[in-house]
Amino acid sequence: MGYQIFVFTSFLVSFIVQHGNCHRAHVDESFVQRKGTHFVLNGKPYYVNGFNAYWLMIMASDPSTKSNVTSAFEQASKHGLNLGRSFAFNEGDFRPLQTSPGSYNENVFKGLDFVISEARKFGVKLILGFVNNWKALGGRSKYVQWAREKGEKVINEDDFFTHPVVKQYYKNHIKTVLTRKNTINGLLYKDDPTIFSWELINEPRINETGKSIQNWVSEMASYVKSIDSNHLLEIGLEGLYGESKQKLNPYSLLIGTDFISNNRIPEIDFSTIHVYHEYWLQSPNQSAAIEKWIEGHIEDSNKILQKPIIVAEFGKSSKSPGYSIKARDDYYKEIYSIIYASATRGGSCAGAMFWQLLTQGMDSYGDGFEVILENSPSIGEIIKQQSTKMSNIKL
Ligand SMILES: *[C@@H]1O[C@H](CO)[C@@H](O)[C@H](O)[C@H]1NC(C)=O
Ligand SMILES: *[C@@H]1O[C@H](CO)[C@@H](O)[C@H](O)[C@H]1NC(C)=O
Ligand SMILES: *[C@@H]1O[C@H](CO)[C@@H](O)[C@H](O)[C@H]1NC(C)=O
Repeated sequence: MGYQIFVFTSFLVSFIVQHGNCHRAHVDESFVQRKGTHFVLNGKPYYVNGFNAYWLMIMASDPSTKSNVTSAFEQASKHGLNLGRSFAFNEGDFRPLQTSPGSYNENVFKGLDFVISEARKFGVKLILGFVNNWKALGGRSKYVQWAREKGEKVINEDDFFTHPVVKQYYKNHIKTVLTRKNTINGLLYKDDPTIFSWELINEPRINETGKSIQNWVSEMASYVKSIDSNHLLEIGLEGLYGESKQKLNPYSLLIGTDFISNNRIPEIDFSTIHVYHEYWLQSPNQSAAIEKWIEGHIEDSNKILQKPIIVAEFGKSSKSPGYSIKARDDYYKEIYSIIYASATRGGSCAGAMFWQLLTQGMDSYGDGFEVILENSPSIGEIIKQQSTKMSNIKL
């Protein structure tokens, strides 16, 4: 039964794709799945080289900026990038998707429709997040504020993880996104294989050593899977450990997450880490610390979690001390080679995603970490090489 539905969906998708008028790149119609510590697509191991572009929906929702989205996917595809990470939320002030609990701006939603349909044209799959831990684009504090405005007794933004009304708002958002019918390709988001996976929350952190996040992930992961069993799901973690392995963290604060126990939740299909050692830790040998951080998590994913892992964010800021183009390029090479070496040994890491891709004309979105491929041939070449190497891995 499941198989029949699957075949039918694949057929529908390929029909739409073949009869659409512009398909510029190779298009895969199946859902990426997980098999042990690897991803598979059409029965074959699937490796990724990816980018972050949180701004896609925002740019897509206005005709004056929409072409940035197409340029981004075009550039990504030229460099063999097959996975993008972006946000299916915005409760902020500028072009919000959700303006109050359950109220959506249709133009912005159409922007997200466009992002997904455009990604497919260029052979890029997407990780889409449901909310931000931070205040950028609204985030969990906005949810708590909404509850307060409705007269709910909330103490602070950490109530996001525990307050029943706030949790319900968040679940409603998940349901709205999963059951959204794309106005361009006609597919429900939950049936769209261009979506690689969902992400519960970007970089959850809470100032406690308790189980709030663990319980929340467990509840929300089950909720997502009860509506959408097609897609993979990850949490959005940076990779910090709880008390068990606190010594391995780049700094000693406990932030209420634990890489092991959070990712052990059965509905979580793969783990993620972020790499920002420049901000987290000044170690006498930064390269060695980064190598240990990445390899340690891969090892945990291989042996303890037995699930795939993706380095979902890394990057080099032009504002960091000693920055040069060469330093940035060397940094990318370093990260890429750790991942490639591990993957060719059969390790669970499927690839890395740099933060962040911008396009020409988006200078005001620069945060120092931006890569504008049109302007940066040296990094473009390194990215392209990594894409080729990752896609040629045969196990
Ligand atoms: C990208 O968006 C900016 C506004 O942020 C706009 O000025 C620019 O023209 C856009 N560029 C393209 C290529 O669409
Ligand atoms: C976390 O809470 C402790 C104890 O209340 C406090 O000392 C510390 O500054 C807090 N840390 C953060 C990051 O809020
Ligand atoms: C720093 O660590 C890297 C990676 O482990 C190693 O190759 C390099 O030799 C180390 N550098 C120093 C100065 O110890």
